[in-house]
Amino acid sequence: MQLLALLRLASFLVLASLVESGYAGLFRRQCQATLNTATAVARRLQDHYYRTSSGQYDGGSLWTDSNTLEDLHNLMLAAGSNDFSTVADNSFLGRAALNPNTNWESFLGGSNDDAQWHILALWKIADYKGARGLDNSAYIRSAGKIYDIIAGQWDTQCGGGVWWSTAHTYKNAITNQLFLLTSASGFIRFRNQTYLDNAKKEWDWLRNSGMRNSQGLFNDGLDFNTCQNNGQTAWTYNQAVVASGLGALAAATGDRSLLNEAEISLDATIAHLSTNNILRETCDNAAGPATCNQDQQIFKVSSLFLPPRS
Ligand SMILES: *[C@@H]1O[C@H](CO)[C@@H](O)[C@H](O)[C@H]1NC(C)=O
Repeated sequence: MQLLALLRLASFLVLASLVESGYAGLFRRQCQATLNTATAVARRLQDHYYRTSSGQYDGGSLWTDSNTLEDLHNLMLAAGSNDFSTVADNSFLGRAALNPNTNWESFLGGSNDDAQWHILALWKIADYKGARGLDNSAYIRSAGKIYDIIAGQWDTQCGGGVWWSTAHTYKNAITNQLFLLTSASGFIRFRNQTYLDNAKKEWDWLRNSGMRNSQGLFNDGLDFNTCQNNGQTAWTYNQAVVASGLGALAAATGDRSLLNEAEISLDATIAHLSTNNILRETCDNAAGPATCNQDQQIFKVSSLFLPPRS
């Protein structure tokens, strides 16, 4: 139930984010009805599933909560509304961001992929607060601290890449695709060379990692012993996050060949991971009871392609 609500919310909000990112006037008029629906869905989500006491969603997890927080703030930016303006500071993530003593290593619990959804949420909250003339410095600072932790999880095993977790047992696509996205977006935001260097280094590694298969899809990750593509599931978000990251890196560098690379992923997704224009994971089964677990159910939401902020 909650996931269904989240899925619905997110599909409305992707349109909202298109509006926010600059296709402006025309889209705004066309999307007014969609924005109204998104607001109604978001209200329902907040009323029925959000706990003010904990700052978390019932039945959620930290990373899906962060995606939701990002969505809410995308919505308010797109709609020019302030309906959910108190959620950020009250949220579990926001409380940590506002507390200068937060131990981010322990907050993140070693999950280098989840950590980067938090960065994206913190930046979106900061965008919203900045747009409303509110102090967003704690959010920016906290995102920077998380980013530095993740950047420190890169080493030369398998020629480079950020580890999936601090256990250092797996190098996979999503963690590194997110690092491409956060690094390239970070450069666009702050014009800090470290971010650009990391984004270029990451794409160089991803491109040569062998994780993109002959269909053009990124598989889940690399075999620990051989550093070869492990052939595990090519999830929808593995295609979309790399496309978003490449879009951001193209915006950061002006290198349009990166957009061709992004298109390879998007075309392959349409060709191999959708049915009747609906994204489909291999675990989705319209004929029977769903077999996707909770994380897998939301991968498609995280797959919605968001144009880079510029
Ligand atoms: C650039 O970003 C890096 C990584 O977050 C940070 O350590 C460094 O202090 C930043 N430099 C400037 C000039 O802000």
